[in-house]
Amino acid sequence: MELSLNINGTVHALDVFPGENLLKAMRRLGYFGTKHGCETGECGACTLLLDGKPVNSCVMLAAQAQGHSIQTIESIGEHPEQGWKLTEGLHPLQRAFVESGAIQCGYCTPAQILAAKELLERNASPSEVEVRDALSGVLCRCTGYLKPVQAVLRAAALMRGEVGEKSELVGFIFPEPGDKGIGDRGEAEPSSPIAYPLSPITSVQARPRVFVTPETQPWQLVGKPEAKVDAIKLVQGKPAFAADFERRGLLYAKVLHSPHAHARIRRIDASRARMLPGVAAVLTWQDIPRVVYSTAGQSHPIPGPLDAFSLDNKVRFVGDRVAFVAAETEEIAEQALQLIEVEYERLPDLLDPAQAMQPGAPILHDEPEYVNFAESDPSRNLAAHIRIDIGDVETGFAEADYVFEGDYEVPKVQQAHIEPHVVLTYWDEDDRLVIRTSTQVPFHARRILAPVLGLPVKRIRVIKPRIGGGFGAKQEVLIEDVAAHLTIATRRPVLYEYTREEEFIASRSRHPMRVHMKTGVKKDGTITANAMYALSDTGAYGCHALTVTGNTGHKAMALYVGDGPYRQKPNIRFYADVVYTNHPPAGAYRGYGVPQGYWPVERHMEKIARQLGLDPIEFRLKNTVRAGELHPFSTAWSEGREPRPETIETCGLEECARQGKASIGWDQKFANLTWHSPDPSRPYLKKGIGVALVMQGTAIPYLDMGGASIKMNDDGSFNLLVGATDLGTGSDTVLAQMAAEVLGVPLDDIIAYSSDTDFTPFDKGAYASSTTYISGAAVVKAAEIVAERIKTRAARMLSVKSPNVESSLKPTDIRLANRRAIAPDGRSVGLAEIALDALHQEDQEQIMGVASYMSPVSPPPFAAQFAEVTVDTQTGQVRVDKLVMAVDSGVIVNPLTASGQIEGGMTQALGYAVCEEMRYDERGNARERDLREYHIFRADEMPELETIFIETFEPSHPFGVKAVAEIPMDGVAPAVGNAVLDACGANIDDNPITPEKVWRVLK
Ligand code: FES
Ligand code: FES
Repeated sequence: MELSLNINGTVHALDVFPGENLLKAMRRLGYFGTKHGCETGECGACTLLLDGKPVNSCVMLAAQAQGHSIQTIESIGEHPEQGWKLTEGLHPLQRAFVESGAIQCGYCTPAQILAAKELLERNASPSEVEVRDALSGVLCRCTGYLKPVQAVLRAAALMRGEVGEKSELVGFIFPEPGDKGIGDRGEAEPSSPIAYPLSPITSVQARPRVFVTPETQPWQLVGKPEAKVDAIKLVQGKPAFAADFERRGLLYAKVLHSPHAHARIRRIDASRARMLPGVAAVLTWQDIPRVVYSTAGQSHPIPGPLDAFSLDNKVRFVGDRVAFVAAETEEIAEQALQLIEVEYERLPDLLDPAQAMQPGAPILHDEPEYVNFAESDPSRNLAAHIRIDIGDVETGFAEADYVFEGDYEVPKVQQAHIEPHVVLTYWDEDDRLVIRTSTQVPFHARRILAPVLGLPVKRIRVIKPRIGGGFGAKQEVLIEDVAAHLTIATRRPVLYEYTREEEFIASRSRHPMRVHMKTGVKKDGTITANAMYALSDTGAYGCHALTVTGNTGHKAMALYVGDGPYRQKPNIRFYADVVYTNHPPAGAYRGYGVPQGYWPVERHMEKIARQLGLDPIEFRLKNTVRAGELHPFSTAWSEGREPRPETIETCGLEECARQGKASIGWDQKFANLTWHSPDPSRPYLKKGIGVALVMQGTAIPYLDMGGASIKMNDDGSFNLLVGATDLGTGSDTVLAQMAAEVLGVPLDDIIAYSSDTDFTPFDKGAYASSTTYISGAAVVKAAEIVAERIKTRAARMLSVKSPNVESSLKPTDIRLANRRAIAPDGRSVGLAEIALDALHQEDQEQIMGVASYMSPVSPPPFAAQFAEVTVDTQTGQVRVDKLVMAVDSGVIVNPLTASGQIEGGMTQALGYAVCEEMRYDERGNARERDLREYHIFRADEMPELETIFIETFEPSHPFGVKAVAEIPMDGVAPAVGNAVLDACGANIDDNPITPEKVWRVLK
């Protein structure tokens, strides 16, 4: 059917399919700023303006837009510098989003800007509540909404002619002369004079505070709130993501998913599907080689069993793969799926991990190709089995005055990145297979896919464009093989993009666990022994089974070592069984097993402190590991590899607790009965305050490796190529900041690119909180190589120009700053001159540096997480009013991007605390299949968020950094759980803390 659409003032003629929605039509016309995040009008990523009003284009027929005026992000503003052409530059909203750090992955950004534009056009001075209301139709999984809200208010101010300074966005607390660092920070103070209202709306006055460590230098870029290097393209909705790509002859892939949790495929007949006009290929398990592999995107050798096939004759969960289809349109591919005839032999469903590991239980993985790793045992449905004993745990219990035991449970939850999994594959002109994919692990993906596809590694090129969030779900080689098999079968390009329902039934999730805690304590609060047993449900496949669950113990059980003699020789036990069931597979999710550990550990510590009448913070700090002590697990376990002793060099935990306490007003609230009952007219409302202390890791020692290359251009700018993958974290920006710092140039002289397996150096990818630390150290090394060449040439050039000082100038005399190489006497030469000299004039060379870095240590970041709640004791409703997180992540390279990580992480963790859970019926069918059933926080539902950075200087990194990305996932749920206990005495041991659970306990 022929349509004409008026888009941004231009009329486009378009032939649309019957029923084609406006989103698909827009993207077919090349308006890639309109994004796909779901199909049901829930995420808002597809927002555009129809006659000036925001609409969700995914739930509107293209035909309905005829005769209306459509406006997209592409028409809002443009890059201010376009060569000789004068432009009006970016819209104030776009500028404010860039400058406020409101963008993480940027996938929701065009929609947020359009929604805000409509608001500002009808209301020039909106309140914060009105801004949040306007943004509430656009889900963001990355930011926690604080900075987008600040950006809209800032833009409104700019449009009213008021101006704000960028420095207002961060509060720096610099050390006084003579300060020596931790413990010497001056008085802790509440963050701002704002009251703590009952309104659940965040105050935009909240801004991150950075307690700057005295060991930092007067750096030009490191430590500064620089705008992200990719922000300008993202606010314009440029085609940066994997699906924003046109290719002639493109086919669309669809997958037939299993309706059964456990079944053998007795017969499969795709002949009718293959005959459907427009179908290019249908593949079943009979059509492709049977190659066993692991979908976990991890280093070689993968620390887990090989137990998956692209297609198999057995299905192991509702949503498992049965067949692949490629067709001219998505609609034809969907029709073809209906025509595939499958005869299943149902097998017993195993949905309880405790039963699945019993002798005699049906075996999920009976395939002869199965490859064991370490202690996986498919005959007992065990994907992994962990037994770690540190010290003498039984003696520790015997020496205790009290032994506390408790059972806890954590649920299966979703990463819920707004950009679904998406991949596009094609053969290039050299008959090499190109895989353009939204992945956190391009190099692992290439290595893992090669045998699955029957291609050598050298004939595969993986391109990682911009990623619209991943949070670990894209550390999985999840769908690349589907499109690649179909491209091999058809020789045509193939696009495969998950629907939101597929994200729920056929992606990965956090491992649910049942946990038993047992802790021995002396009367004075000294922990004498601490033991955890975790029963972890890995689902149908063992991807990340050993490593995720191992980290539950390695990070969460490492925090409490005890005090006195126990501190010297802690007694810690961590046992775990990781069990196959017929649930969808679990995998990597930001935090990687550690949030599962801190829910039981920190709920348990709270109960112990209360039962012994001890101050909950003092009790914790008495027993936590400290700087200068051995990481207790470093001699016992290392993800299935050889453990090596590791000393913790920096720990700002006490200061985090002190500043966090001051900020949330702990001393005024805890044990204050008046504060706990804030409204005499509504005595059923009770307020509570809670805390959790946490630690994470920074990369995997002796394993994670990142590479970087830096090349100098004619104008003194630099290309920085990294294999690291920025999935919205800002890693491209912080890596560029480090390179710019070493090279003495502004940030926009560094052109950062990541990543392409043909062109960028190897990097293990984005996981384990490793990029700033590992890839950053590689960038610094590469930049130092380049700097050394620049200084060598500068010394010669400056000597030539001033013969009387020629003999005294050495490369080490030269410093780089302000795009110049500067001699001690102040004479200087510009980097552009040096570049031209090197490339064109004398002793020609390409100034370039390549380096890589692997760390022998994994310095832990630490944090104190605080939560304040109001509980309605009549209904069980819990409202989280405020979250404060004080973090020791080492030196903060960019407080804007880092605080965005903390705010976004706390928001994801808040879902874990109070509302997110993936549930299944007795046949293994998912109950939550869309973003309506699976609720993630919206802009208008947020509590107040506050981030405090307590800097320490980690000596193993050139700029003193540790990790920031995962630690905000760890403490929110237990802090909220402890606050609920404080408010009303309800002990909820299984998160999420739903109103029903609270109500039942209080009843
Ligand atoms: S609301 Fe349209 S893509 Fe999600
Ligand atoms: S920045 Fe909003 S979804 Fe990533």
